[in-house]
Amino acid sequence: MSNVEPAMKQTGSPGWDGAPPKIHLQTFGCQMNEYDSELVTTILKRKGCEFAASEDDAEVFLFNTCAIRETAHNRIYARLDALKTIKRKRPGLVVGVLGCMAPNLKEELLLRFPAVDFICGPDSYREVPALIQRSRTLHDRGTEVELSEYETYEDILPTRVEGVNGWIAIMRGCDNFCTFCVVPYTRGRERSRDPKGVVQETKQLVSLGYKQVTLLGQNVNSYRHEGSDFADLMKAVGQVPGIERVRFTSPHPMDFPTKLLGVIAENPTLCSQIHLPLQSGNDRILKKMNRNYRKDEFLDLVSSIRETIPGVSLSTDIICGFPTETEEEYEDTVDVVNQVRFDSAYIFKYSERKGTVAKKLWADDVSEEAKSRRVTDLVRRQKEISLENHRSQIGSVQRVLIEGTSRKDDREWRSRSEANTIVVFADPEARVGDFRQVKIVGATPNTLLAELT
Ligand code: 5AD
Ligand code: SF4
Repeated sequence: MSNVEPAMKQTGSPGWDGAPPKIHLQTFGCQMNEYDSELVTTILKRKGCEFAASEDDAEVFLFNTCAIRETAHNRIYARLDALKTIKRKRPGLVVGVLGCMAPNLKEELLLRFPAVDFICGPDSYREVPALIQRSRTLHDRGTEVELSEYETYEDILPTRVEGVNGWIAIMRGCDNFCTFCVVPYTRGRERSRDPKGVVQETKQLVSLGYKQVTLLGQNVNSYRHEGSDFADLMKAVGQVPGIERVRFTSPHPMDFPTKLLGVIAENPTLCSQIHLPLQSGNDRILKKMNRNYRKDEFLDLVSSIRETIPGVSLSTDIICGFPTETEEEYEDTVDVVNQVRFDSAYIFKYSERKGTVAKKLWADDVSEEAKSRRVTDLVRRQKEISLENHRSQIGSVQRVLIEGTSRKDDREWRSRSEANTIVVFADPEARVGDFRQVKIVGATPNTLLAELT
């Protein structure tokens, strides 16, 4: 898709009526939303707004929302419901719902939640200041949910807080239309960013002390910008001076770019770690999901990835209880999990989403009991595999990047190996952002325990 932007709609806000309002922004959902919140922060800071860590100090609450499963909706609904009471005590308070719930639910949100003053979809963030202004001065409930074929926020540098890993969206939207997934409807058509902007953002992150970047796209296989593909982009980002680790998420198992495997194998800064969403291991279900690969093709892809990048770490996403999935068909998914032995897996119950092909065509007919049982069994199986994989690493020496203190014991560090596994160890001399060589001495399903070498 062409990336030439027509003249972008600019916010019509002439400036604030009085001092710029103080904002409290809360993010739900995926890393793409975290990144988008950093863009919204820049857009509002350019208009003079300050940000408050606590709701008590803010005049505007913004919620960047997620629509991927009903559980995500429910978390946000609970928050919006609670605001009714808060608003009664603070009548001037403005509440805005940003992100994926906005284009998907539109007016439904305004009808159901009187506390919400405006809604704004992922392609309309330039309008946020004007929407706030309109709510404050006209008490008008604004709706900006149009999706764009061009908007990539290329001219907006995200506002970063200090950190170790920086997210960078390299594309927006998705054209895959997996039948269960709401993303093509909430984030619109796929468009890729200019690699120059991505490299520029990587340099900005290095200058702020970041050691790692993670490139984000709903389906990185289809990243294209003029002559560049995703492998070219990874290589360029990996060569930015000072960047130590580059990760990405997610590729699609269909038309997986094999060129990328060679690029990862040859470039030491590109981590030997791939998140490869399986969704199901059954051919009939994969077809109904519109995934465009079969079980045997997925397994062949895994073999070729492991041949080109020995020791690569693989993780996945799986959905249990897609409409009409039988026990035998679910067993095909278990079989793939047993054969591939992923390092980790995110396992979800199917959640029917508004607007999707699956909702239009098929009843959500797998019982809640069967869905729960399949998820629980698969999680248990994956935990066993993860533990076996982790135990086999005991005695090895690995290079880890320190991200923060351990949740269980603040005298220990929480770090990550190249495989993206959490490694816990002690070193009184170290600091967040440091690399260390550690020897693995213990293992749990989610964590490796280590000692400084
Ligand atoms: N129900 C359950 N899981 C879903 N995902 C996407 N849509 C749904 C849905 N309707 C999962 C997929 C995807 C991950 C980000 O979320 O596994 O890879
Ligand atoms: Fe959703 Fe499929 Fe696109 Fe991923 S590739 S965002 S699962 S439609």
